Amino acid sequence: MRKKLVVCLLLLVGVHFAQAQNGIIGEKVYKTKCLVCHQADGGGVPNLNAPLDGATNVVGNDIARLVKIIRYGYNERVALDGYYYSNAMTPNPALTTTEIAAVLNYIRNSWSNKAPSVTIAQVQKLLKKK
Ligand code: HEC
Repeated sequence: MRKKLVVCLLLLVGVHFAQAQNGIIGEKVYKTKCLVCHQADGGGVPNLNAPLDGATNVVGNDIARLVKIIRYGYNERVALDGYYYSNAMTPNPALTTTEIAAVLNYIRNSWSNKAPSVTIAQVQKLLKKK
């Protein structure tokens, strides 16, 4: 009985630790690779860089699109929530699947954003499909 409780507690601590780690990686990736364009408050730059805070696509369910944008960059010049952005987003070929999942969870759950988590396995599968 006691043993089970200890195992249970250890598992809980482990899960929390993994989540905290993921949060730290996500923030680090954002600060080093994304902040320069999307800004610290996720607000982007009008007409130039799309905002991530409050963006329908960022908190939406098309995870495949988000993963591809982060890995391969984005220069579609389509309207995003009614506005156009003239800059081109650079690709991130060096980011690992862990880092892509972490930064995705970071942008989906920062500022006013609140969206379900993306797993590393999900990112792996989507990148394989291409
Ligand atoms: C060089 C500037 C730049 C950098 C660096 C950059 N982005 Fe972007 N990002 C853009 C621009 C510009 C767009 C819109 C492009 C377009 O409309 O064609 C965009 C679009 C996006 C979108 C789509 C938004 C939507 O509403 O559909 C996501 C998601 C995104 N960026 C995430 C990231 C993440 C995560 C990083 C860091 C790994 C990052 N960006 C780094 C400039 C940048």
